[in-house]
Amino acid sequence: MSDVVTPVLKRHLLSIDDLTREQAILILDTADELARISDAPIKKLPTLRGRTVVNLFYEDSTRTRISFEAAAKRLSADVINFSAKGSSVSKGESLKDTALTLQAMGADAVILRHSASGAAHRLAEWTKGSVINAGDGTHEHPTQALLDAFTIRKHLNKNPEQNGGVGADLTGVNVAIVGDILHSRVARSNVLLLSRLGAKVTLVAPPTLLPVGVSDWPVSISYDFNNAIGECDVVMMLRLQLERMKSAFFPSAREYSRLFGLDMERLAKGKKSPLILHPGPINRGLEISAECADSADSLILEQVTNGVSIRMAVLYLLLGGADA
Ligand code: CP
Repeated sequence: MSDVVTPVLKRHLLSIDDLTREQAILILDTADELARISDAPIKKLPTLRGRTVVNLFYEDSTRTRISFEAAAKRLSADVINFSAKGSSVSKGESLKDTALTLQAMGADAVILRHSASGAAHRLAEWTKGSVINAGDGTHEHPTQALLDAFTIRKHLNKNPEQNGGVGADLTGVNVAIVGDILHSRVARSNVLLLSRLGAKVTLVAPPTLLPVGVSDWPVSISYDFNNAIGECDVVMMLRLQLERMKSAFFPSAREYSRLFGLDMERLAKGKKSPLILHPGPINRGLEISAECADSADSLILEQVTNGVSIRMAVLYLLLGGADA
């Protein structure tokens, strides 16, 4: 792979809607190539030498923050980790002033996680560099959707010839996204991306955990997990986001688990053994049993590994050009 590429993406990655189908496939294909670097004894490319990437995290994160850091370092960028806790944010400094301060220090890209939906869009209006949305409120988490699609594609490439390459997209793949859709930026980004790549998406949730306007989304809806699991190739379990729930959305955790949790008994109701995804962190025993999470069909840790390759690809394509 050459060190310099012409950026074909927009300057920012704020939403899956910033990507055409072709651009999304380019990211997946680039991640495929870059995954080989991660398997090599020396996991470094000089592509982003001299570039500065800032991890600006106003909300907690394990996977996203660390994998963006690993991705940027594998491309030889300088990385600054900024956590709102312990910074001048506690003295009242605004997101805008924080961003301008980081820009003054020479940030070429800012990776933002924030509890406010739309925060990454606002930041993109204020900064000269690239902004990558690492999760904004209940709105979107585009790199999570990309790593999920990458993981699914690696295991289920159904129409390679028809799709113009080995597993170019996800045509014909049935994906059930299960659980707390209402609060899930992962679900929103995945619905946009998976449908753009040709997958059939079914949302499985109690009515109280589906957002207003979901009938306009390119998905089917099911309230019956036992029925839906029979049809799906992939079951993507979502974390119950108890910290975002201001009122009761289901009678009890036990009842939620019984109707919408994944356990081995429910898994056995599938016609085939579906692949199991979960973005993490997991509430073991609530939305997924420990046995399912740790089973041979679970790709949860592979998702984490693939997250580094996807984030390398996004950084590479956004910042890799000499004049980017
Ligand atoms: N999936 C995900 O965003 O995990 P973190 O909150 O640990 O980054």
